[in-house]
Amino acid sequence: MKKLVVLTGAGMSAESGFSTFRDAGGLWEKYPVEQVASHDGWLADPELVNRFYNGLRRQLIEARPNRGHELLAALEQHFEVTVVTQNVDNLHERAGSSRVIHLHGELMKVTSSRDVDNPHCIEELSADNYEVQPGQKAKDGSLMRPYIVFFQEAVPMIETAAREVSSADIFVVIGSSLQVYPAAGLLHYVRPGVPVYLIDPQPVSTSVEGITFLRKKASEGMEELTQLLCGRQE
Ligand code: OAD
Repeated sequence: MKKLVVLTGAGMSAESGFSTFRDAGGLWEKYPVEQVASHDGWLADPELVNRFYNGLRRQLIEARPNRGHELLAALEQHFEVTVVTQNVDNLHERAGSSRVIHLHGELMKVTSSRDVDNPHCIEELSADNYEVQPGQKAKDGSLMRPYIVFFQEAVPMIETAAREVSSADIFVVIGSSLQVYPAAGLLHYVRPGVPVYLIDPQPVSTSVEGITFLRKKASEGMEELTQLLCGRQE
């Protein structure tokens, strides 16, 4: 089976009701990124940050994967698929994708603020107990924080993701403005000659040449991509 690696961003989940970050009316317009998604913001007001992610969790629990997530999961019948996502939601997993690498953390998980990546401190929240309370402690006694990679923090999964991209036979980007590094730099790990598709209703600027641009929303773009990649097999 050929190896298909897909990088997804906020646009992938837009049709599930989630705001993107940088579009007009996007999340960072309503909640300043420096306050709710940066390391300094966390240090300045951890309660505000925890409240913000409690709200996003409530929204995620109500949300459903969209047709784009489902079609991507269905491609596992034809390809060895790895999803590298910048999204912190779990909609790829809930749609049935079996190999998902989360670059920016996971909304339904919390961890220690002293030792963020210590597996003993990472806890999964459930749909009926997803709110972090003010002053709540992680397993090591430090303040509990979202398992989210804040701006100013390292992206521990980037090397794993880069290895995946550099062994891809086909590479796809869905719903990302490609403005946030190191995720956006993954495009440069694609081997020469490997077909690259980009699904987004808006123009996306990138220095990489030879990309097939499907200017559509994630669901319609995935319909077209499925047709392009598997049309003859179905
Ligand atoms: P952005 O908000 O920067 O970009 C979203 C992209 O999705 C844009 O190019 C939109 O045109 C496109 N889009 C909008 N609706 C769409 C739809 N229905 N289908 C497909 N595409 C659509 O989001 P990201 O590139 O994901 O990090 O942002 C990267 C990171 O910046 C995020 O992971 C987040 C943010 O700060 C953290 O929170 C750590």
